[in-house]
Amino acid sequence: MMSFPLLEVKDISVEYGVDGKTIKAVNHVNLEINKGDVVAIVGESGSGKSTLAMTFLNLIEKPGRIRNGKVNYRGAKGVVDVLRMRPVDLMRYRWKEVSMIFQSAMNSLNPVMRIEGQLRDVMIEHGTDESLVDAKIDEKLKLAGLTTSIKKSYPHELSGGMKQRVNIALALACDPKLLIADEATTALDVVVQRQILTRLLKLKQDLSLSLVFITHDISLVANIAEIINVMYAGKIVERAFAKQLFENPLHPYTEALLQSIPTLEKGTAIKGIKGTPPDLSKEIKGCPFADRCPKMFDRCLAEPPELKNVGDNHYVSCHLY
Ligand SMILES: Nc1ncnc2c1ncn2[C@@H]1O[C@H](COP(=O)(O)OP(=O)(O)OP(=O)(O)O)[C@@H](O)[C@H]1O
Ligand SMILES: [Mg+2]
Repeated sequence: MMSFPLLEVKDISVEYGVDGKTIKAVNHVNLEINKGDVVAIVGESGSGKSTLAMTFLNLIEKPGRIRNGKVNYRGAKGVVDVLRMRPVDLMRYRWKEVSMIFQSAMNSLNPVMRIEGQLRDVMIEHGTDESLVDAKIDEKLKLAGLTTSIKKSYPHELSGGMKQRVNIALALACDPKLLIADEATTALDVVVQRQILTRLLKLKQDLSLSLVFITHDISLVANIAEIINVMYAGKIVERAFAKQLFENPLHPYTEALLQSIPTLEKGTAIKGIKGTPPDLSKEIKGCPFADRCPKMFDRCLAEPPELKNVGDNHYVSCHLY
């Protein structure tokens, strides 16, 4: 049998039209997620991570629009383009195939409804048999690392970490194959962050779930993700196996990101990245990182680099390679 990725994003571009300007938030991105993969998407604020993830679920809404590209999902009935799905199929797809913990999820639980009710609503709405719901609520809470007694609680009675576990339980409500976590631990302290990430990894093992972690903090996914995609100004500028990326970063932006991670070693000063990302409403002629790049040369200003495979599934978009 020919293997095919679970999710395949092909040449996707998304723009937002605001104040008469067009912001190119995602610019010709290609990405594949295979069954059981743990993939990270990292990059500075505004680099297009959330916008890209929204395309996986066909969730781009005005003022955003998808300019071009495909999002192919391989389900039980073969490959379908998520961007051309009928609404009824999309509804099913969004919880049963791919689910997402949104960046603002922590504060999006219904404050006047017990946790139990929130899980029940999602399950019933998506066709779970009434007689199975109670057992499923307990099962999902346990999978998220919660005791089932919290189902009687209201969101305000829970800590931030517990609320985020409820969001994990919600995301698992309809047994998806792929879970996307967009900055799911950003607002939490480091200990709770670790616990939540470890829990998600356990789910990968127990449920053979594929995972996508989105974060601006590359150090967070260092020991978690198998494959890391580095995004900059709406493009993936480097992709490699995590170990490879940390040991041998090729793109000057990735190097800078890694140098900005605080370490405990003495004498290793943290280097921030000078300058700011480009204005995405303006035409960028060359490499989007050129004016911040310490290794910039003439060609970088004249011609955009392509993302190319430099061996061992290590991809980089930089004229140095
Ligand atoms: N609803 C919107 N309307 C207009 N512009 C938007 C909208 N959402 C995102 N953008 C713009 O698109 C670009 C990418 O934003 P996006 O939220 O995808 O980035 P991000 O990498 O997820 O950032 P962060 O780390 O802050 O979450 C930014 O320039 C942003 O201002
Ligand atoms: Mg975001």
